[in-house]
Amino acid sequence: PEAITVAELANRMAERTADLVKALFKMGTPVTSNQVIDQDTAELMVSEFGHNIRRVSDSDVDIQAETDVDDDENQQPRAPVVTIMGHVDHGKTSLLDALRGTDVASGEAGGITQHIGAYMVTQKDGSKITFLDTPGHEAFSDMRARGADVTDIVVLVVAGDDGLRPQTIESIAHIKAANKPMIVAINKMDKPGSNAQKIREALLQYDVQVEDMGGETQDVEVSATAKTGLDTLIEKIQLQAELLELTANPDRDAEGVVIEATLDKGRGPVATVLVRRGTLKTGDIFVVGAESGKVRALVDDKGKQVKSAGPSVPVEILGLSGVPLSADPLSVVENEARAREVAAYRASVIQQKRTTTAPASLESMFSALR
Ligand code: GTP
Ligand code: MG
Repeated sequence: PEAITVAELANRMAERTADLVKALFKMGTPVTSNQVIDQDTAELMVSEFGHNIRRVSDSDVDIQAETDVDDDENQQPRAPVVTIMGHVDHGKTSLLDALRGTDVASGEAGGITQHIGAYMVTQKDGSKITFLDTPGHEAFSDMRARGADVTDIVVLVVAGDDGLRPQTIESIAHIKAANKPMIVAINKMDKPGSNAQKIREALLQYDVQVEDMGGETQDVEVSATAKTGLDTLIEKIQLQAELLELTANPDRDAEGVVIEATLDKGRGPVATVLVRRGTLKTGDIFVVGAESGKVRALVDDKGKQVKSAGPSVPVEILGLSGVPLSADPLSVVENEARAREVAAYRASVIQQKRTTTAPASLESMFSALR
């Protein structure tokens, strides 16, 4: 009575069993559809899928799929999340800095910029774009492999004076595998040796056909240092974002993904989290990876304290029990006991994984809890 099979739980939530198996796997619990999971795990899954739990009795949990809080009517437009990729030295960081310089809101902070691995740029028309400072395609793929597929659009940076290089080609493969819309930014156009047409032609070899070459991929000539083409790049990102019709429900407990986390000397464990749905608020109790906590403060990408952060907003969180890993999922939960319980469970699963090379049986995983 304390347990439920994966298939049965999926059924009660009106979710696909495969999705549930995937979610459990991501959490470090490999199961098959007819395997039994305990009530705590079931409850965690129910909340991770955005459903509500009603406890009928101590030994039974009723899951109300019909009260799913992510109904269409709660969906609101959200900012696109853009990852910049490309070969070493082709100007990814320079381009990010230049784009950040177009932020109309950055002036308010006196031009002091803070590196938090992710930031939001506000356009003149008030629209926003979130940029992720992903160091490389490995990180991009690693995040995806860990279930943190946060990128909506990829900007592929190619230096116009250099051409397609190994990491450009690898990036293209990763972007295609992830099935993400791509915008090619041909950078360093201020350099005399730059030849954009040569880049467009070379891209054909890798099945990237830009508009000028009769394809549908957007491309734009830019110079990060001379700050040219930036408005066009922003416009193309916005256009692409419109086509994607990106939405999220801001009116629910927050869920997010850790972009990066560190132990700060003065402030303790700090994590930069990208909110994916819901709104994260100070005072919220959460579990993130194998850590838990209560939001003591939220700091935006301009170093300013904020009270809340909605979908697509990157924010620094203070008040963690420890340092989580990048790509760890964050979920707001109802109370501290629950947060600690889930965090302890995840920690034990991680511990189990470290101590055994063979896949641990579910039973042994649970016995570690008792
Ligand atoms: P990694 O992070 O090492 O992969 O490099 P990156 O892709 O972030 O390149 P970064 O922005 O560090 O730029 C590499 C070099 O190219 C720097 O010396 C930049 O000043 C220079 N650079 C970047 N963009 C431009 C540009 O548009 N024009 C010119 N002339 N130089 C540029
Ligand atoms: Mg860089």
